[in-house]
Amino acid sequence: MKTKLMLSGVALLLGTGYGTAVLAQAKPEVLVKQRQSAMTLIGKYFGPIAGMPSGKAPYNADTVARNAGYLDVLVKMPWDGFTENTKDEKTRALPAVFTDTAKFKEGGDRLQSMVAQLAKVSKGGDEAAVKAAIADVGKTCAGCHENFRAK
Ligand code: HEC
Repeated sequence: MKTKLMLSGVALLLGTGYGTAVLAQAKPEVLVKQRQSAMTLIGKYFGPIAGMPSGKAPYNADTVARNAGYLDVLVKMPWDGFTENTKDEKTRALPAVFTDTAKFKEGGDRLQSMVAQLAKVSKGGDEAAVKAAIADVGKTCAGCHENFRAK
């Protein structure tokens, strides 16, 4: 009897869409961990190619093509973790992330288009174009970190 009542309560919640909305709300500390994990992987796959334009790392077209393909997906991931309810968590995200949201979004969008460009040219075999695209991505990382990430 009790079970039946509880089940109909759950059905009612799900039926109104309210139940699913509540279940989908991730905890702030989970969102922080997820966005930092995405950034960590972005660092993992950008790191080895970042030094190629300057010659600090030897140019390797296969590594660039592989990493650019991974990055093309990874750079879509961090942004939905920078929600208002995470602003009081202890992280390296500066308060500007939550006040200057348009500029922060612009930086995220810019990163996605720069990486898409890199992924595209990395298939073409034009070393100069690939190096220029890597440098553009690097500038986009640095530009956003300068304004939105604590040192
Ligand atoms: C639009 C802004 C923006 C762009 C573009 C951006 N980042 Fe970040 N990044 C951040 C912010 C904000 C943090 C701090 C997140 C936190 O502490 O919750 C961060 C953190 C990181 C971290 C540390 C993660 C951790 O575990 O604390 C790494 C590594 C990183 N970014 C690498 C990169 C690389 C590499 C690029 C470019 C390919 C890049 N980011 C582009 C905003 C950006």
